[in-house]
Amino acid sequence: QTHLLGIEPLHPEEISTLLDLAQDYAEAARAGRRHWDALADFTQINMFFEASTRTQASFELAGKRLGADVMSMAMGASSLKKGETLIDTALTLNAMRPDLLVVRHPNSGAVDLLAQKVTCAVLNAGDGRHEHPTQALLDALTIRRAKGRLHRLTVAICGDIAHSRVARSNILLLGKMENRVRLVGPPTLMPAGVAEFGVEVCEDMAEGLRDADVVMMLRLQKERMDGGFIPSEREYFHRYGLDAAKLSHAKEDAIVMHPGPMNRGVEIDGTLADDINRSVIQEQVEMGVAVRMAAMDLLARNLRQVRGPREVMV
Ligand code: CP
Repeated sequence: QTHLLGIEPLHPEEISTLLDLAQDYAEAARAGRRHWDALADFTQINMFFEASTRTQASFELAGKRLGADVMSMAMGASSLKKGETLIDTALTLNAMRPDLLVVRHPNSGAVDLLAQKVTCAVLNAGDGRHEHPTQALLDALTIRRAKGRLHRLTVAICGDIAHSRVARSNILLLGKMENRVRLVGPPTLMPAGVAEFGVEVCEDMAEGLRDADVVMMLRLQKERMDGGFIPSEREYFHRYGLDAAKLSHAKEDAIVMHPGPMNRGVEIDGTLADDINRSVIQEQVEMGVAVRMAAMDLLARNLRQVRGPREVMV
């Protein structure tokens, strides 16, 4: 692959290779290592057209740890404000000859479109409700570390599935690795045609969490609800918010995940989110750096093969 635009085109072996490399980076970072040279002579530009804490910070840190020159554009202060289009903005930055572009955009498909116009590798940092591949990969690494495997697990993904690119990428990845995926939430927050994904759908948390190995909570993504029905937060927490009572339906050793940002007291009880015996939310953030290092390292290796070593060095 010369881009990472989604989980959809990835083969299970490619996913395992990336996770193995990320695991090595994670262990080395835990042992105190902070510098590598896998991206020496590479320039990475981060373009985030939508708010981010975890993804933007970890892509920046990942690039710096691998030795790249990293520039994070402040898109709110760019010439987009003067009417320049997304494509012209991308072409302008592409002319400065970056090697890697990391892009988040509120519109589904915008990152794929941009990738067709530039000559460098593009990594999708989340596009609309379409895909968020590195989030699914970091979730997969977190699950594999906690459960010792990434197959034949029952994973309950709960909440606002309809507006979630995280859910979509996770459904694709977990399915490719032969896991059982259950989507749990109100019918108003389930996407149309969900049965095509080969998942089970439950409206009731007790039923949906039964015997689950992994419980993944999602926030209400109001920014993508387009003026549609938004449930009352108090009622939503009562029926769908994860607390100890609802979690008791899952396996005794089930882990609790959340991609963040989380809304405590809406989709998840704050005490449970902080319970280090059940919650792996902070480990997800930690694995985010390792997975993004692995993703950019592997793309850089592919780029070197395609371009030849001399051109990369120019
Ligand atoms: N999980 C995630 O994408 O978080 P950010 O929006 O903070 O990057």
